[in-house]
Amino acid sequence: MLPVMSIPQTAGQAEAPAIRVRNLEKSFKQLPVLRGVHLDVARGSILALLGSNGAGKTTLVKILATLLRADAGTARVNGFDVAGQAGQVRESISLTGQFAAVDEILTGRENLVLVARLRHLADPGAIADDLLRRFSLTEAANRRVATYSGGMRRRLDIAMSLIGSPPVIFLDEPTTGLDPQARIEVWQAVRELAGGGTTVLLTTQHLDEAEQLADRIAILHQGRIIVDGTPDELKRLLPAPEVEYVEKQPSLEDVFLALVGTETEKADR
Ligand SMILES: Nc1ncnc2c1ncn2[C@@H]1O[C@H](COP(=O)(O)OP(=O)(O)OP(=O)(O)O)[C@@H](O)[C@H]1O
Ligand SMILES: [Mg+2]
Repeated sequence: MLPVMSIPQTAGQAEAPAIRVRNLEKSFKQLPVLRGVHLDVARGSILALLGSNGAGKTTLVKILATLLRADAGTARVNGFDVAGQAGQVRESISLTGQFAAVDEILTGRENLVLVARLRHLADPGAIADDLLRRFSLTEAANRRVATYSGGMRRRLDIAMSLIGSPPVIFLDEPTTGLDPQARIEVWQAVRELAGGGTTVLLTTQHLDEAEQLADRIAILHQGRIIVDGTPDELKRLLPAPEVEYVEKQPSLEDVFLALVGTETEKADR
């Protein structure tokens, strides 16, 4: 087990949602990006934030991670205000950005040990080995990251974000650019996180990813959350299709997975 970072919680925080956003607004010069965003994410749940390119997903995540300041409105993460209590928010979160932030020169294990040291955790080596195992990177542990495939980098990036067991994790497009097998491995890792009580807010452009992973889906469109509900609730927004008898064709993803198999040993390890 990883050591748990001690974020003191008051009684009120335990019941409050892990993320609470009210009337959040953000413009870049003349461009209004967020125009009154409301959002709650329950503790231990996975929320998928969907939206097309430029909808403002990364902007919202950056505000919640205290990397950007909102123009108006409020946001609380783990009970702390992102504007007034940025330090406590940062101790409560980790952010895996849209572009992997791993150090190419170091090995996978060295990257993990480095972050564990920076977080002042006891026994960084044991923490690194545990994460390498959980993310199927043990065999590649002592290779430079420069030799990793895109999927391996992504897995390492997510593993790095788990060091210190922050209660809230932001994953900005965690599976963009990954092959279907690697996506499934990342999904598995995200499910395990939420199963362990971590709150996950992930952004994605893939409806199937949201459907597979999320307890709730929120759609950001023209600066506002236009829908927020469970995958089933979202599907019920459309009328049920008329029953037709058609032969079910496998999707290309089914075909790809059938051909490459589900074995975990891959050529890139
Ligand atoms: N620092 C910035 N300065 C000016 N404009 C910005 C800045 N950051 C983002 N924008 C603009 O704000 C809008 C929202 O960008 P954002 O990156 O939040 O979208 P996104 O939903 O994450 O898109 P994608 O799916 O492509 O990642 C875009 O029009 C973008 O060009
Ligand atoms: Mg983005």
